[in-house]
Amino acid sequence: MATPRLIRPVTTPFSAVATVPGSKSITNRALLIAGLATGTSNLSGILDADDTRAMAQAIVGFGARAEVDWNTGTAKVTGIGAAPMAGPLTLDANQSGTTGRFLLAVAATGSGAITIDGDEQLRSRPVGDLTDALRDLGVRLESTSSTTELPIVVHADGLRGGEVQLPGDVSSQFASAILLAAPLSKEGVALTLSGELVSTPYLDMTVEVMRAFGATVDQYDGSKFVVAPGGYVACDYVIEPDASAASYMLAAAAITGSTVVVEGLSPLSLQGDVEFAEVLAQMGATVRHHGNSFELTGPSVLAGVDADLRDFSDTVPTLGVVAAFASTPTTIRGVGFIRNKESDRIAATVTELRRVGIDASETEDGMVIRPGPLEPAVVQTYDDHRIAMAFAVLGLRNPGTRIADSHCVAKTFPEFFAALDALHPDREPLVIVIDGPAGAGKSTVSKAIAERLGLMVLDTGAMYRAVALSALERQIDLGDWEAVGELTKSLRIELDGSDVRIDGTDVSAVIRTAKVSQAVSVVAANPHVRDVLKHQQRAWMSAQGGGVAEGRDMGTVVFPDATLKIFMTANIEERAKRRAAESVDFSFADALADLRRRDEVDSSRAHDPLAEADDAVVIDSTDLSVGEIVDKVVDLLGDLVRP
Ligand code: DC
Repeated sequence: MATPRLIRPVTTPFSAVATVPGSKSITNRALLIAGLATGTSNLSGILDADDTRAMAQAIVGFGARAEVDWNTGTAKVTGIGAAPMAGPLTLDANQSGTTGRFLLAVAATGSGAITIDGDEQLRSRPVGDLTDALRDLGVRLESTSSTTELPIVVHADGLRGGEVQLPGDVSSQFASAILLAAPLSKEGVALTLSGELVSTPYLDMTVEVMRAFGATVDQYDGSKFVVAPGGYVACDYVIEPDASAASYMLAAAAITGSTVVVEGLSPLSLQGDVEFAEVLAQMGATVRHHGNSFELTGPSVLAGVDADLRDFSDTVPTLGVVAAFASTPTTIRGVGFIRNKESDRIAATVTELRRVGIDASETEDGMVIRPGPLEPAVVQTYDDHRIAMAFAVLGLRNPGTRIADSHCVAKTFPEFFAALDALHPDREPLVIVIDGPAGAGKSTVSKAIAERLGLMVLDTGAMYRAVALSALERQIDLGDWEAVGELTKSLRIELDGSDVRIDGTDVSAVIRTAKVSQAVSVVAANPHVRDVLKHQQRAWMSAQGGGVAEGRDMGTVVFPDATLKIFMTANIEERAKRRAAESVDFSFADALADLRRRDEVDSSRAHDPLAEADDAVVIDSTDLSVGEIVDKVVDLLGDLVRP
């Protein structure tokens, strides 16, 4: 499993124009409609993400022609028009909810057996209300499991149309699916939503995109839609930036007292999620609109809110995270239905807020968040992009926040972490190196500094120890430099906090035994080993985007351009005392002898010996506490880390 991604805290307020990709919801509606239309449409502002690629693939799957340039976000789509899709045909929606649901309804307008499938996560998301509605419209459906879950075979014979009802408080994707299919029906469709309505802005969005492509839709009271038959006509269409994606950038500004501008979005947007900015305004943020752009500035103190998010529920995790930094509690209401999203988003948000130390609790239709002090944690993401992105924002103000399986953001915002990073004024990675002899206190101090600044530690000594252990276990002659060098290349050494694994096996304890301590100096003198490990150390640092590296040659060889170089020393008796205290293997006398020997070997070896970098700050830890040393380091970093 990939190392959880560390989020670098924001230390000074910033002012930035956010990069926000095109709207996922509009992209998928426009792609589908263009794929069904008569003629060739030119789309721009298309989002490149897993979900939109799923839709693009699906429309090609049912016979449309699509030339998509994902780099420029443009597409030329020639729709199937008067030649409805014909089975046998299988269309795979992968993980995309809109793709799966929309296709299910649209498939009914074709002919023959058309199978709609998705990945495991999508298969487990129920579609029973939609299949019931399709049956009411006379569509014959069949499923290998139950007709409430994909895969489902639509035995299509053209959609006659007629009157149909759907509950208003389930996924609006179901209603959108029926609406999208409706212009392709023979008699038109009258759709009534019963009961309470949720996510109505998504229905308005569906209707607006349909109208842009020539459909005739009449809407009454927000709950009744009458769609005339007649199909879709191609057009040129510009997709707005994604308002849900923008919510993370706005939240980032809100919690750090910064300013963020999002271009291409106005209060008149088709996307309900623009409302999120209004909630932040209620919490104390200043929101300005300049024509087609939003500007939001975070307040010095955020207030809690009581907010009903039923119309823009994708922003629930984002608001949950912002609420953690408010001065008073927040209640989120009206969103019981988001338990069926990529994750149970109520449970996920509450669980992860608790993990970072916030007192949060679930309610039937939302949650309550009582702000308090936060703590570092590895946030779990449940393969849900919105949980990953929301908690990444939290990490901007909570040092030590790491995001597990962070790649799941690709579902809707593959460049999310780059976009978040780009908001920081101090974009250069913070690399702190701590070199010095054994027992100088490097490990303890590195951990304490890392904790204070929200960074990860790279214990390079542990890497040399891991190689020494493996060589001993395989009975490789330590003096055979070539052989030990080859061994180093073949090992997968993973460092995770103070845990060390070799090819998946936890060796954190064994590498600290006297036997390994004795062997490691020889291994560390081997230039082949040093070369392999040096590249791994640099790769680790760039993957983490900064960190605290401790060792012997961090400042001199591995990270010559580090932000701050510390060389730690302590007198040898003090070091021997510390060593003897932390290991059952060593008496004071043993420790003293061992240190003398290792100091000698480490500093006299030919390759990358232990040495002070010219620009290192020397700290003698003999009479200093860990806290004093950390304060000194924070002081040396100055404005780079001042909150
Ligand atoms: O810090 P430590 O005691 O865990 O380091 C183990 C050995 O590895 C030690 O003898 C020095 C060597 N080492 C090195 O040569 N270069 C480094 N960057 C880190 C450790």
